[in-house]
Amino acid sequence: MNIISNIEEMQQTALSLKRQGKTVAFVPTMGYLHEGHASLLREGRKRGDILVLSIFVNPIQFGKNEDLDSYPRDRERDCRTAEACGVDIVFTPDSAAMYPPGFQTGVTVRELTLPLCGASRPGHFDGVATVVAKLFSIVQADVALFGRKDYQQLAVIRRMAADLNLPVQVLGMPIIREADGLAMSSRNSYLSPAERQGALCLSRALVRVKERYAAGERSADTLKDVALAAIAQEPLATIDYLELRDGATLEPLQTADNGTILALAVKLGQTRLIDNTLLGEEL
Ligand code: PAF
Repeated sequence: MNIISNIEEMQQTALSLKRQGKTVAFVPTMGYLHEGHASLLREGRKRGDILVLSIFVNPIQFGKNEDLDSYPRDRERDCRTAEACGVDIVFTPDSAAMYPPGFQTGVTVRELTLPLCGASRPGHFDGVATVVAKLFSIVQADVALFGRKDYQQLAVIRRMAADLNLPVQVLGMPIIREADGLAMSSRNSYLSPAERQGALCLSRALVRVKERYAAGERSADTLKDVALAAIAQEPLATIDYLELRDGATLEPLQTADNGTILALAVKLGQTRLIDNTLLGEEL
């Protein structure tokens, strides 16, 4: 496994692999890898001749009062995970090289970034779209894999790749959960034991809504109330947003259907967690 930090070296390596007719599968991450990332890497291993993992805590997708400085990092453990998943190249650029003095270009995806996480984290998706466009170009990705836990992020990246005619196939992979239902996230490491227990209210809310939907309930307002009630039972939880929307356009709706997304962001103490589910699909 090769670890490359230099952007030009990564780009030259990727271009030379391309000239040899190799395809590149790419998993972009901010590191502190968990089983969710490992599942992307294992799938990526099957999808390309060369598997590239990037680890880059992207400063421009963090708001002023967010956790950029405290974002968990463990490079050695990440490299062990990468190696075990068959990664060929770990790309670890540094911030100064990604955003040198004078950097002034950004990618904005419009409507899709307005609701949900976009409303609570202004500028976040500009940062994500910009860095992912740069990474796709540097590593010459043919296939890129993203987790569906960041459902809106996946939608934004798909839109960006289509709108900018980027020659990359964007794949969304299932959410990986702990045995008790909590969606895996690097930010779970921030939770105290009580918050960790309280965090189960997110998946519990999704399950309750799925049950009501399976029993025939279709009113988006009623289903939302079911989820709100499940979160309200957890004293440590504060809701950031909880919404049912069209799974493709992310537009609001009155009547839920298969393909409606229930997405929520909930704070446990200082830690903001997100989760979602598509109605009509398994959790
Ligand atoms: O999902 C993430 O870890 C990040 O948003 C991504 C896609 C690596 C961009 O920095």
